[in-house]
Amino acid sequence: MAERPRVVVTRKLPEAVEARVAALFDAELNPEDEPLPRAALAQAMREADGLLCAVTDAMDAGLVGTDGRRVRIVANFGVGVNNIDLKAAEAAGVAVTNTPGVLTDATADIAIALMLAATRRMSETEAILRSGGWVGWRPTQWLGMGVQGKTLGIVGMGRIGAAVARRAALGFGMRIVYFNRSPVGPFDFPAEALPSVEAVLAGADVVSLHLPGGGANAGLISAERIAGMKRGAYLVNTARGDVVDEAALAAALESGQLAGAGLDVFAEEPKVPERLVRLRNVTLLPHIGSATLETRTAMGMLAVDNLEAFFAGQPLPARVV
Ligand code: DGY
Repeated sequence: MAERPRVVVTRKLPEAVEARVAALFDAELNPEDEPLPRAALAQAMREADGLLCAVTDAMDAGLVGTDGRRVRIVANFGVGVNNIDLKAAEAAGVAVTNTPGVLTDATADIAIALMLAATRRMSETEAILRSGGWVGWRPTQWLGMGVQGKTLGIVGMGRIGAAVARRAALGFGMRIVYFNRSPVGPFDFPAEALPSVEAVLAGADVVSLHLPGGGANAGLISAERIAGMKRGAYLVNTARGDVVDEAALAAALESGQLAGAGLDVFAEEPKVPERLVRLRNVTLLPHIGSATLETRTAMGMLAVDNLEAFFAGQPLPARVV
């Protein structure tokens, strides 16, 4: 029997995924789920044929091009691939795959949850209740903003952006405006394309971000662009933390330029800026956009599909490089 490809899996994955990896490959799993230090990742690059990694593994140019590298495919567990130096992978001839599609609904659900949490002041009021500060119901207490008839601005109208827009348009009666670099649509809900990010920011009551991190998108939601948002608007980010200037966002939440925000991602995870932690008008989640058992299993299975196809010499289901 031909030798099975050796695959190193950097994080603990759902049981069904690990069982499939172990059945298909000579697999090294990570049952303790300790993030692999750089030296261990470099060793994996030298000793394995494939690497199944995740957003927590910073696969920079040095690692992708490790001296004596044996790995020929890096299968990312996740749709975002900003943790991998794609140019270096291309130059080194290393295939990179991701897991698009299977996490669309779970992530869109969290974006909607964050929009409602922000506009209805859920974190702020729950904290008051938990600390014993709720002394009784009052008609004018903790009034938020109703989303019905309001405008949701989507920056990045890919799969997830469109799924959020669809929920907001059809489920909540919101008007949708969006910016996407390339033409997209038509959609099965009303949505108006605007010519720039600035136009979306200026016209929206709630802005939801759905673009990849890194590169030209790093710092896209800058102090200047936040100043161009409607006063008292809300910002939701389930994409990547580095898309937003976090200090500028904190300043806007402190000054009332923005009424609230909902964030599932941060520029330097797991670090969350203290200034944001101190603010009451922002809901902070620990990157749980795709965190359902169903979705994380589907992501793992797609990562394994990519590896299986690669080693069988077949077209890859989700090739990035
Ligand atoms: C994704 O798939 O990009 C999630 O954010 C996890 O990395």
